[in-house]
This record gives sequence, C-alpha cells and structure tokens, in this order.
Amino acid sequence: MKYCWQQPGLSADRQAEIVLAEMTEDEKYAWLSGPMAIPLGDEPLPEGAIGSAAFYPGIPRLGIPAMQQSDASLGITALGNVRPGDNATALPSSLLLASTFNPDMAERSGKMVGREAFAKGFNVQLAGGANVIREPRGGRNFEYLSEDPLLTGVMAGHSVLGIQSQHVVSTVKHFAVNAQETGRVVVSSDLDEAAMRESDLLAFEIAIDTGKPGAVMPGYNLVNGEWASENAFLLNKVLKGDWRYPGWVMSDWGATHSAAKAALAGLDVQSGANLDQQVWFDRPLREAVAAGIVPQGRIDDMVRRILRSLFAVGAIEHPAQPGGDIDYMAHRLVAQREAEQGIVLLKNRHSVLPLKKGAKRLLVVGAHADQGVLAGGGSSAVTPVGSLRLPGIDFMGIATDKVYQPSPPLHAIRAESGAASVDFHSGEDIASAVEQARDADAVIVFAEEWRSEALDAQGLALDDKQNQLIAALAASHQQVIVVLETGGAVTLQWLDDVAAVLQAWYPGSGGGEAIAGVLFGRVNPSGRLPVSFPLHEQQLPQPSQIDPQTTTSLPGVPVKGDILHIDYNVEGSDVGYRWYARTRQKPLLPFGYGLSYTTFSSSHLSASRQGAGIEVSLDVTNTGDRPGAEVVQIYIQPANKAYVPRLAAFARVELAAGESRQVTLMLEPKVIACWHSESGQWVIAGGEYEIAAGRHAAEFMLTCTLVLPEQRFGRQRQPKTTSA
Ligand code: GLC
Repeated sequence: MKYCWQQPGLSADRQAEIVLAEMTEDEKYAWLSGPMAIPLGDEPLPEGAIGSAAFYPGIPRLGIPAMQQSDASLGITALGNVRPGDNATALPSSLLLASTFNPDMAERSGKMVGREAFAKGFNVQLAGGANVIREPRGGRNFEYLSEDPLLTGVMAGHSVLGIQSQHVVSTVKHFAVNAQETGRVVVSSDLDEAAMRESDLLAFEIAIDTGKPGAVMPGYNLVNGEWASENAFLLNKVLKGDWRYPGWVMSDWGATHSAAKAALAGLDVQSGANLDQQVWFDRPLREAVAAGIVPQGRIDDMVRRILRSLFAVGAIEHPAQPGGDIDYMAHRLVAQREAEQGIVLLKNRHSVLPLKKGAKRLLVVGAHADQGVLAGGGSSAVTPVGSLRLPGIDFMGIATDKVYQPSPPLHAIRAESGAASVDFHSGEDIASAVEQARDADAVIVFAEEWRSEALDAQGLALDDKQNQLIAALAASHQQVIVVLETGGAVTLQWLDDVAAVLQAWYPGSGGGEAIAGVLFGRVNPSGRLPVSFPLHEQQLPQPSQIDPQTTTSLPGVPVKGDILHIDYNVEGSDVGYRWYARTRQKPLLPFGYGLSYTTFSSSHLSASRQGAGIEVSLDVTNTGDRPGAEVVQIYIQPANKAYVPRLAAFARVELAAGESRQVTLMLEPKVIACWHSESGQWVIAGGEYEIAAGRHAAEFMLTCTLVLPEQRFGRQRQPKTTSA
C-alpha cells in the first residue's frame, strides 16, 4: 500500500475522509477556484495543465492526480485551438441523441466520450446538458435533449453513466432553468416551485438518479432573482437537501458573484475564476472563515465532495494519462450509428424515399455539403482534424468558429447512391442552381441553421436565402428532398412544396454517411422529434425575445442596469407539447413525430398496478416489408383532466418485417404525481387515469384506464413553526 487511501474495501466516502484529513489548507483552497486552462491573450498555461476548460493541481505526496477538466457532452473540445492538431470524435447533437429515444445509445456514445477523455488525460468531462428545452429558439438547444423532463433526464443520465464508466467524472448542467442564451448572465428565470419541480428540476432529478454524476454545474442565469451559483433554494434545499446529492457544485465559468454568500448557499468551486470580477474562493473566502462567517466545516465539505466523486468513478485509482490509444475509426462508427438512429423523417410524399440506386444524375445543393456537416457553436464544439472552420462568434473572450465536421454528405451520397453522376452546387446563385437541377433525377438540398452558446436564434425561420433557394428548386423540380442541419425547431414554409424532408440535426463525425444511408435505404429512419416544431412564434408561451443588441451574454461582465425577468409561469410545467395541448394549438409537427420506411400497428394496451409501480404493456407489430424501429410512447392524464397528457414511459423497439412483440414499460411516478409545495412532497391524486399509447403527442392510438389510490412520497417538510 503506497497511499493512505489504498486500504482494501474502503468506500469512496471513507477514502475522501482519509485524504481530507491529510490535506493542508492551501491544498484545499487550490481546489476551490481555478482559471480557465486556455490562455486568454499571452497568459501561460498553468504548470501541469494539458490545455482545456480547467486545471486544478494534484497532490503527489497523497497520490492525488491533478484535475484536468474538458468540455463537453458532444466530445472532447479544444476551445481556442488550445491543443493545435488535436483530433477528436464529434458526436451528433444532443437533440439527435434524444431523437433516438434510446438510453442504450446514450450510454454507448457517453462511453466513447469517456474513453477519448481518459486517453487524452482528462478526468472531468463537463457534459450532461440536461436543461428542459423551454425556449425553442435557445442558442444551446443542440446541447440539450428535449422539451420533456422524462426523456431529458433519462437520456442525460445514461450519457453520464457511459462517461463515468471510463473513470472520468461527468457533470450535469446547467442547473437550473437555463433556458436561453441571449442575456444569459443577466436573465432571471422566474418559475414557481411546483412547476419547476415538475419540469426543469425533474429532468435533473432523473438524470442525477440515473447517472450519479460526480458534479453539478449551475448556469449563468438567475432563478427567481438569485444567481443560480449562489441560490440556496437550488443548491442547499433541493440538490443537497431533498436529493441528498453527495458530489460537488462547480460554478459555470465566470459565473461566481460572491464568497461567503455563495459558499453558504452551496457552491463548492469557483470555475473560470479569471473571467470573474475577482477570485472569490480564495482570500475573501479565507477571510470569511477567519471571521466566523463561513465555518471551516463548509470548506472541508467542499473538498470532501470533490474527493468522493473522484474516488467514486475510480479517477484517483486509475489516473488518466495523455497519449492513450484512441480507435478513431471505431469511434466514428459509434457517432454514425447514433446519427442513423436519430435522423427523423419528417415528410416522404409518395414514398419518394428511399431513393433508387443507380440514378443517372443527382444534384446535391447547399450548406457546404461538399465539405462536411454543421456543428453548434461555443464550448461544446468538437473540431475533428479536417473540419472546415469559418468565423463564428466571440464569447468568454475566446473567438469560436462555425465548424463543419469532416463527413461530407456529397462524398457519402456518391458512395451510397451508385448514381452515374452526383454533382454539387453551393446554392449561392439560386438561378444557376435551378438551371443545374433541371435534368437531375432528384435534388438533395441541405439547409443549415447555425446556433451557438451565448446567442439565441433570432426567430424560428431559416434565413431568407435558403428558404428562397428551396422554394425555387421545389417550383421547378418534382423530386426535391430537403435535409435539415439545424440546432432546434425551425419553421418549414415550403413543407407542402417539397417531396421529402429529413431532420439530421447536427449529425457529427459520421453524419454524411448516416444521411446517405437513410436517403438510399441502407438505414430505415426511426428518429422521433424530441421537441415540437411550432407553426409560428405566436404559438409560443414567450413569443417575443430579448434583443441581443440591448444586453450582454458574456460572463464576468459587471452587471450594468436591470436584471431581465422572464416569467416562465406562463407555461409553468406545461412545456412544449403540454403547452400546445393546454392551449389547444396544433404545432407544425408534434413532439414524438417521425416517419419510417415501414409501418407499425399496436394492440392490447393494458395497465396494472405492480406493487408501488404502474406497469403498462401492449403488442407492437411491424406490418411492413422491411425491418424497422418503432418508438413506443405512453402518455398519462387524470380522467378529470387536472393536467394535460404527460409522457410517462417510452421505449425504442426494433422489429423484423412482420414481427410482433409484447412491450412492457413501468411509468415514472414523478410524472404522474404533482408537487405539493406546502408539504414538500410528490402527490399522486387518487382517482381514474387515462393511459394512452401515442404515435406522437398529438395522436393516441390506444387508450385504457386505471384507478389509482392517493400516494404521497418524498420527504415531508416540517410544518413551518410560526414564531411564538
Ligand atoms: C461555458 C459553458 C459551460 C462550459 C464552461 C467551460 O461558458 O456555459 O457549459 O462547460 O463554460 O467551457
């Protein structure tokens, strides 16, 4: 045994206690704040830093490695080109991952990210974006998963499981109600507790329950007027209190606003301290301890939480080292398989898809499809070697690129189609594109929408030029197939005029091959929309947006002027499909929607109470002539309509042609329940419930009913004692 913690059979908590007892105060404070390990200007890299989002020194005498922290959910980034020439595999966007409705895929792709992080020497991955998509125009929606808390929480949790299986701590972020990017550092997301518990917090609760992430990162925003990184309700009451969360809370980069207040509210680490107004979690915090404002025990608790999370995933016992082997070919296939499962077929007039192979001539148009596939901007942007990099935006004082990852759909279409000729047109000159399309058997036009951290999409439409290009092509050609590469829901004003539409989101390092596989039938599309597509912005609970010209989204900027309050109580927990149901609106495309090259039927839906849970089963049949995957969606609503239908279970089921299978699912009790703030408990009201199997949120194929007794769970709050 070499180090104090290396005794057999010790729990992670015990190992943490043993190491904590050996640490000096300076060694503790060295972990409570740290700079970005990406030099801004001519600052040097911290000694020992690989070059990434953050670095905290190790303690060699105790056998504790340095903490090397990298972004993010979609792969290993190299922001600011901090590791020139570094390669990495880019996963598709989280929206695409959620479109698979496949937790196993989340775990598999998470494992790939964990493997690459470990092989590059990183032991903390700033992943696990788990914000419910409240704002369809949100700049980082491509990093989040869904408008539904169950789908979000389950998929984020399984992604974290995959990452942490590789001895790498994962975060979940950005806790909580971090719904938009414009003005992110000065926006207060205002939402009552019950609505928050049933939506945004439920997604994080499920993700944390499922994945056991070692750390949680609050967002830049305020929640009900308090900065998330010093919000005692979020951090102490909910996360560390009700949920008994044992890991550590790290601020976002440049999102810390105090020393004592933040420490006492539950913040454990000030991240990206060089972006803040000052380093709060060193001298000012030491002074607060010396003055008895912050107890020494709080400092020890901060460090203990970090240590136990590192021990819990084996990051100390199995220290990550740079220079490990990475099988990029195998990893690229992982990304491609995810894209193949997450591409959503939105329209297929007269089954024009899959296209027949061996055409005389095909024309591919637009979105740099001859060079790659689009990725989202900001700290999550993975830049594989060979990426096309165009000017993006500057946030956090670092200029970031608009990246096209090197998986050119044009090359994949040439390989997959067997066509005699496949030409490319940039789409810049619409008239010449229309001219060149004339004698093509089919026209495949790529339409992009670039979204980025620190800036929301302005409106829901694609830019005019692309809309005009698609309209002009559709007006002159019968077989126009649109492939979308967007960072979220967009309006599709030409939907009636084109033959087919694929939503490929940001499809990652194997995206071109996945798109070609779907277009020519090697892949039967099975993705389902994880977000509703609005008909127009007036359908939204918050139709208007903050003007980016009138506010700032940069961290660490002194907050001049007012905090901007957004009242999310308008929709409350009825986000997305629930909002459309409550307001009786029909979106352009509903949550859970997606077509297949085969057909499915369902029958024999039944529900029964199994112990404390509710089990639902049904038979699903592939009634078509080719294998395919159906996504079973189970929605629940009280017979008295106390709330609109909520997704309470889902499963992706692969079926051979003609195959039938009985599918059994357990419903999530916290979706069926409502939060009672007075008692601090979840309550399932007694009475009759309608349970439905949905083709999507707006079409229920089968329903059944079940009577449930009242059920209360979760820790009961002590009744407020009125002071004598
Ligand atoms: C960014 C992001 C956060 C990221 C961190 C480090 O501003 O908000 O998601 O992990 O800073 O790059």
